[in-house]
Amino acid sequence: MPDSIAIKFVNQSSSGFDSLDIEKGSALVDKLDATNSPILFGCRTGICGTCAIRVHNPENCRPQTQVERDFFESVGLEQETDLRLSCQLSAEHDLSVEKVRV
Ligand code: FES
Repeated sequence: MPDSIAIKFVNQSSSGFDSLDIEKGSALVDKLDATNSPILFGCRTGICGTCAIRVHNPENCRPQTQVERDFFESVGLEQETDLRLSCQLSAEHDLSVEKVRV
């Protein structure tokens, strides 16, 4: 796949989902939902936290947006700067992600 990004799922081996190649620049919410990945989605607007992930290589990911900072602060996780809401992310660089419950 030209200009593809690898999304590696950490600690998800029981789901049978190790990694996924998606087109660079695409919205994670569209690609992960369509492929039945272990990352689930609810509101898709940054409110519910269903899609929360820990990025194991945060240097490959943009900083938290204000929406993400507001959400993680609301659940007492404002210190966890490697958390993101996958519904707010697009695929710009290879990522290693882990589903987290908040
Ligand atoms: S799906 Fe609700 S915060 Fe991402």
